[in-house]
Amino acid sequence: MATREIVTLGHPTLRQRARKVTRFGPEVQQLIDDMIETMRAAPGVGLAAPQIDVRERVIVVELPADEEEGLPAELYAFVNPEIVKASRVTEEGEEGCLSIPGYIGEVERSTEIVIRGQDAQGRPLRLKARDYLARIFQHEIDHLEGVLFIDRVTDPSKIRRITAEEAAEAVGEVAEAAALMS
Ligand code: NI
Repeated sequence: MATREIVTLGHPTLRQRARKVTRFGPEVQQLIDDMIETMRAAPGVGLAAPQIDVRERVIVVELPADEEEGLPAELYAFVNPEIVKASRVTEEGEEGCLSIPGYIGEVERSTEIVIRGQDAQGRPLRLKARDYLARIFQHEIDHLEGVLFIDRVTDPSKIRRITAEEAAEAVGEVAEAAALMS
């Protein structure tokens, strides 16, 4: 595994639609492994392949452990992810992005979604996600369309600056509507 460089706002790949993966196997697994390592090193709770300048439809998501609730960390890797159901109920919450360091903003997202996709071998995956996990998946899948959270912020006054320290802390705060770095 290796960490890769995360590209930031202004890099053209962030604004392009990523290609569907059609060949599965060790190369896709290698990409996923590198993305997990890069996400953890950042640190972040999600990463999409375009963020490491790979124009393919691959995302990784890691929900940190919730020690208060006694819940272990949850790690997901999806190839060709698609939201097949999204609740009409939405909620505003703070999001950040590893490709837009230093800023967070309030974004409205569905509170419940169903995601379909594939694993590194091309086997079908399906997941129902709620709340914070659903928010991370929506943020990552947006990246595959070249969409960034700043595009979805309803009001520019809802974007604010944060320090690197605040950003690192936010990754651990799952219970609250914590800023999401992905
Ligand atoms: Ni992001």
